[in-house]
Amino acid sequence: MTAPEITARKGGPPLACLTAYTAPIAEILDPVCDLLLVGDSVGMVMHGLPNTVGVTMEMMILHGQAVMRGARRAMVVVDMPFGSYEGSPEAAFANAARLMKETGAQAVKVESGPHIADTIAYLVARGVPVMGHVGLRPQSVLVDGGFRAKGRTSAERRLVLDEAKATAAAGAFSVVVEGVAESLAEEITAAIDVPTIGIGGSAACDGQILVTDDMLGLFDWTPKFVRRYADLRAEIGRAAAAYAEDVRARRFPAAAETYFTKAAE
Ligand code: KIV
Repeated sequence: MTAPEITARKGGPPLACLTAYTAPIAEILDPVCDLLLVGDSVGMVMHGLPNTVGVTMEMMILHGQAVMRGARRAMVVVDMPFGSYEGSPEAAFANAARLMKETGAQAVKVESGPHIADTIAYLVARGVPVMGHVGLRPQSVLVDGGFRAKGRTSAERRLVLDEAKATAAAGAFSVVVEGVAESLAEEITAAIDVPTIGIGGSAACDGQILVTDDMLGLFDWTPKFVRRYADLRAEIGRAAAAYAEDVRARRFPAAAETYFTKAAE
């Protein structure tokens, strides 16, 4: 899948997208997903950070490379981490080019802010496909004072809608819409000509994305907008307890899991 193919799905069959951070997970998700996002959520999901602010270029490159080794068909997008694109369009281009060259991913994602449109246009004009991200923007969590849904007041609704329009007009090939009410997601989806990809953005969006580890039930807290399709946390706990019990009871390893020397001739 390429950026133009994703864009062409506007108003068509919904795009199914998930996050991926490792090669084996990318390999499993690739046949069933249109787009895999190496999200900077990797900092919280895999590295135990409290938010995404501490995520580095090196982390994104390492996980981007791993995902590219597992993906075949789905489009792979790598998040630009906090601090790598806000300073100037030139700095954003240097970092986006590095992410694409060192990972082989087809596109980058930036969180759209009031001044990001110029940067998106600068990147797109230089050959970098860009995905935008409006509404709840996790990299702004310290300014916002927490992970809060957006668009609750009319002024905030207007701001989110304007950011989505500016992001699309600047050339983004699609826009993630996170943590907004259905009516705002509807308005954004109708106002822009590239697909909206919702996460807590309702069924009004042109596609959906979830953090894979949330959807697989690897955490005991699940945000309202997540549907759990598995309960892997409990399953892993059960498997580990069974293993530990077998080791302590000397039931593991058994003959089937043991190497033997050949019988003497
Ligand atoms: O980092 C991430 O995983 C994301 C998704 C939540 C869209 O940005």
